[in-house]
Amino acid sequence: MSTYFELKAQICEIGRRVYARNYVASNAGNISYKLSEDEILTTPTGVSKGYMDPGMIVLVDRKGKRRYGEREPSSEIKMHVSIYAHRPDVRAVVHAHPPTATGFAVAGIPLAHCVLPEVVLSLGGVPLAPYGTPSTEELPQQLIPLLEKADAFLLANHGVVTLGKDLLQAYYRMEMVEHFALILLTAKQLGKINFLTKENIEKLKEIREAAGIKGKQFDCSLCKLCF
Ligand code: 13P
Repeated sequence: MSTYFELKAQICEIGRRVYARNYVASNAGNISYKLSEDEILTTPTGVSKGYMDPGMIVLVDRKGKRRYGEREPSSEIKMHVSIYAHRPDVRAVVHAHPPTATGFAVAGIPLAHCVLPEVVLSLGGVPLAPYGTPSTEELPQQLIPLLEKADAFLLANHGVVTLGKDLLQAYYRMEMVEHFALILLTAKQLGKINFLTKENIEKLKEIREAAGIKGKQFDCSLCKLCF
């Protein structure tokens, strides 16, 4: 069990990673962790997430109201608290704007292609939530209907949000979404996308069950016509 300080330090570490990997520019992105039913740690608004220290992390209640910390909480706190309210299994949320996956979100194309075994085994696919104005209730309202279906989401004309049982899992899902998007775009540019067959996918599902891999999986078999 990590201490309060260790969790704040881990949020800063994830901030450094998303910034270093170009998943955010300038002050974009936000990260949170649910400590208990009524205590959530969040990144502050308006700072580079690559240069935070633990003293900058803010504690809010389940409604996103600040309880402790000198700075204001993330402007996207409504989205974070709404995710925790609808997904009791989730303890961490990472939001970023990784360029390739966000390109798909701008083009209106969900990442729901059955092409990579490791993605089929873990995320399934990544659905696209319709556009909602950042920082307002519109954004969680667009996301809520999809929350039971997946652990990673494209936000139309905005970015990506990933969920996890802990901070590292939420972060690794962000990595996987961007990597998947880049590979898919590369195949598209090469002029050919070979989809996994139904049989390939069934075998992967069996492996997944036998291995006890947990998490929600968005159905990737919907998407042959996505491009
Ligand atoms: P905050 O700095 O307020 O968290 O906002 C960054 C962002 O990316 C909004 O979508």
